[in-house]
Amino acid sequence: MKFPLDHGYLAYDRIGHGLPLLFIHGYPLSRKIWQSQAGGLSNIATILSLDLRGHGESFPFDPPYSMDLLAEDCKRFLDGIGTQGPLVVCGLSMGGYVTFALYRKYPHFFRGMILTSTRAAADSSEGKTNRDVSIKTVLDQGVPKIVDGMLPKVASPLTYSAKPGLVDSIRNIMLQTSVKGVVGALQGMRDRPDSSALLPTITCPTLVIHGADDQIIPLREAELMQSQIPGSHLVTIPQAGHLANMEQPELFNHAVRDFLSTLL
Ligand code: MLT
Repeated sequence: MKFPLDHGYLAYDRIGHGLPLLFIHGYPLSRKIWQSQAGGLSNIATILSLDLRGHGESFPFDPPYSMDLLAEDCKRFLDGIGTQGPLVVCGLSMGGYVTFALYRKYPHFFRGMILTSTRAAADSSEGKTNRDVSIKTVLDQGVPKIVDGMLPKVASPLTYSAKPGLVDSIRNIMLQTSVKGVVGALQGMRDRPDSSALLPTITCPTLVIHGADDQIIPLREAELMQSQIPGSHLVTIPQAGHLANMEQPELFNHAVRDFLSTLL
């Protein structure tokens, strides 16, 4: 389905009944990463997933995409389709950065928060330089070059050896991202604020889920983040990398299901 936004639109899916649960994907991905969650959790929650601007089937809006802008897109989408808050928001990686921006502005909209494969810190100066290098790469050589650079780091060693079909699917999802989407997200992530000071102020129930073998955001960053959010819990998913929800969907869904049962 498509939600009209300014001169474009956002693509989204809605399935199931019950407490609304919004899934926000990472970079350069799309709502397709949440297929196992839609299948496994729609009997206990209303599963909402959208493609962020420039990603998946959403309109390739002009960059840059600040995390605040992406969060505002999510809020406009939720209001526009008539979702009554409060709801649970689950953000993966860049989706986690967007979740922090959403919480900063609309804390009362949250019934709960799930932070997966993400971090609170801003980019280091080396990280910012790498974003600029990637922006030049995508402008000069296109999205496939970015995808081929990122794909070897996105999953766990087990996933590469045992699930080549899944790795192919991840590659195809990444390839759907537009050049504007890649540039917009890279600029937004490069310039995002440090959310560390927000962590002790989070009052909604919070679950942190992280793959033990995440090569993009190491587990210790999730441990640090979780230790600063009052009352939060960390679930570590074994034999999973940056996309634990796709690599070990049963374990991931089990953790989400347990968390949701505490909110009902
Ligand atoms: C993501 O998966 O969203 C990105 O890898 C996050 C990042 O590059 O900081």
